[in-house]
Amino acid sequence: MSLSKNSKIYIAGHRGMVGSAVLEIFESKGYRNLIYQTSKELDLTDQKKTLDFISGESPDLIIIAAARVGGIMANNLYPYKFLLDNLQIQNNLISAAHINNVSKVVFLGSSCIYPKLASQPLKEEYLLTGSLEPTNEWYAIAKIAGIKLCEALRKEYNRNYISLMPTNLYGTRDNFDLETSHVLPAMIRKFHDAKESGNTPVTLWGTGKPMREFLHVSDLADSVLYASENDLQESLYNVGTGKDLTILKLAEMIQNIVGHTGEVIWDSSKPDGTPRKLMDVNRLAKEGWSYSIELEEGISETYQWFLDNIDNFKEVKLTHK
Ligand SMILES: NC(=O)c1ccc[n+]([C@@H]2O[C@H](COP(=O)([O-])OP(=O)(O)OC[C@H]3O[C@@H](n4cnc5c(N)ncnc54)[C@H](OP(=O)(O)O)[C@@H]3O)[C@@H](O)[C@H]2O)c1
Repeated sequence: MSLSKNSKIYIAGHRGMVGSAVLEIFESKGYRNLIYQTSKELDLTDQKKTLDFISGESPDLIIIAAARVGGIMANNLYPYKFLLDNLQIQNNLISAAHINNVSKVVFLGSSCIYPKLASQPLKEEYLLTGSLEPTNEWYAIAKIAGIKLCEALRKEYNRNYISLMPTNLYGTRDNFDLETSHVLPAMIRKFHDAKESGNTPVTLWGTGKPMREFLHVSDLADSVLYASENDLQESLYNVGTGKDLTILKLAEMIQNIVGHTGEVIWDSSKPDGTPRKLMDVNRLAKEGWSYSIELEEGISETYQWFLDNIDNFKEVKLTHK
């Protein structure tokens, strides 16, 4: 089925960082029949309510950006919740889609599905070729099950259900809380706060040597749109830029954009983490999609968003966590 501007599209997790960017891009392209529910209105871990909702609405496309998401600490503290909630959310949605003949499903996961020691860049075929990073295996195992559920439905019922695995994301509506944020928004916050306090020194973890890849969340949303509008051949695609940089270079870029002129101290007593994590993005490139927002431009835009929203972070956090 090809999408029309009247197709009914259900965006699960529309208030999250990813879901809100997806909602924004579909709205901007003139899709008129978008539906969504907060977790309070529809708890997707509830199988019956989820099935009733999908049966009642009968959407043409479901985008699964709803998930229990969190950092290493949360994964370690709540392994049962991370495993079960994610399995339930995706199982309920994907099975309800199949039962109701929903034409297309786009399921979102993350690069943590790949083995800890897989060679770089990470290709889709490395899935299940080695052990996972133990700190987030609960989350990763759930996501792998979701990929396999979509793949099984493709294989057995010829369903057009696909999985997109984004690299590290950043951008609008990111989490800037220093306790729980990822490296890029944490650096924006640290450099900004230090600049405001008279360019005091900024201490960053590790040596700065690890290499990481970053994708703007609007680019990810654009890839979701592309995957929704086109019939892709495979069931699993990485989404990234295919380019990485050292954490040191990233820090220099952010310091420059923020305008902090103080000292940067690297605390090498703190762990560096995985030396490199880069996605191979050729599979999706062959289908005709690639990213468009360069890192420097994306960080400048994100810093502007941060400045515009710094006064209502409490509210922002409540709406997307
Ligand atoms: N952010 C990243 O850096 C990143 C990177 C790679 C991949 N991803 C992937 O993208 C997806 C979304 O991530 P995100 O960063 O956008 O997460 P997020 O900001 O935490 O948003 C998650 C959304 O899921 C919804 N949700 C959670 N539990 C639910 C439930 N039981 N019932 C209904 N809705 C529920 C929440 O709805 P309410 O707001 O209504 O409570 C929330 O809007 C995940 O699969 C994640 O793996 C994210």
